[in-house]
Amino acid sequence: MEGRSSFTAETVALQRAFESARPPGRRLFSDPYAAEFLRPGLRILASAARVCPLRGLAVGLYDVVAGPGPRPSAVARTKAIDDEIEHAIGAGGQCVLLGAGFDMRAHRLRALAACPVFEVDHPATQAAKRAVVDRLDLRREPLTYVPVDFEVDDLAGALRRAGFDTAVPAVFVWEGVTNYLTREAVAATLETVRGLAAAGSRLVLTYVDRRALVEPSPFPEARRWVRGVARVGEPWTFGLLPEEATGFLAEHGMRLRADTSTYDAGRKWFTGRRERGSRLYRIAVADVVGPVVAR
Ligand SMILES: C[S@@+](CC[C@H](N)C(=O)[O-])C[C@H]1O[C@@H](n2cnc3c(N)ncnc32)[C@H](O)[C@@H]1O
Repeated sequence: MEGRSSFTAETVALQRAFESARPPGRRLFSDPYAAEFLRPGLRILASAARVCPLRGLAVGLYDVVAGPGPRPSAVARTKAIDDEIEHAIGAGGQCVLLGAGFDMRAHRLRALAACPVFEVDHPATQAAKRAVVDRLDLRREPLTYVPVDFEVDDLAGALRRAGFDTAVPAVFVWEGVTNYLTREAVAATLETVRGLAAAGSRLVLTYVDRRALVEPSPFPEARRWVRGVARVGEPWTFGLLPEEATGFLAEHGMRLRADTSTYDAGRKWFTGRRERGSRLYRIAVADVVGPVVAR
């Protein structure tokens, strides 16, 4: 990703634009800004999806190229995390979007309307996002952009300087990011969250099942997906086995509350639709328990 905006962030924006193009009542969420982040070729696809007779063609074409997993998985995880935020954010709380990409929850979720939001992202992706937000003249207070590279930068210092309040419970969202990082950066980020979060804070994160990273993988959709992200220069580098998640998070002061695949999450919502999420892509919700207190 070195010095350039994330292409996978743009891909997720396209996937959200497709879902948002469905008629009200038949879509799982609406992100009216998603298409604004797309390069011209992808924007044409998103525009085609807004025209009813072309929608199936545009989305079908995308799924043929990307494979059956990525788009429904992104839709299911977006819906699951939207719901989790709506449920978890308390009055007077704050929200941190870690690796925010082109996620526009700060602007589109009612639950976040009056809540301080911190968008943390790689400086290159964040600069691209801010250019679009400025072009659209989208104003929203309080929203603070915090440019951070999880691999090298001091996340805790950056959040503190940005005004993050360590006395106020927060919802941390880390969606679609851990799989692009080293294990060390994932662990360091979890430690930072543990160190900053007030009692009552929650972390929602996604991870990929580690068995997706090996060939042959037990997940039929893995090969094309893994090769696709590597081809655009953003290879998957980190995963966990679901049975490891409880222990891994506990090592970093988190108590796992829920852990589900986007396949299982999607089964609830894709009624009457042919697509499914993916068994390799997982959404975990954890309470931030905080530092281990020595007895
Ligand atoms: C697939 S996108 C997901 C974006 C967003 N969370 C969403 O769901 O729409 C991956 C995101 O991880 C960010 N990212 C990847 N490596 C990073 C790093 N080392 N430091 C900070 N952000 C990183 C990218 O900039 C990008 O925004």
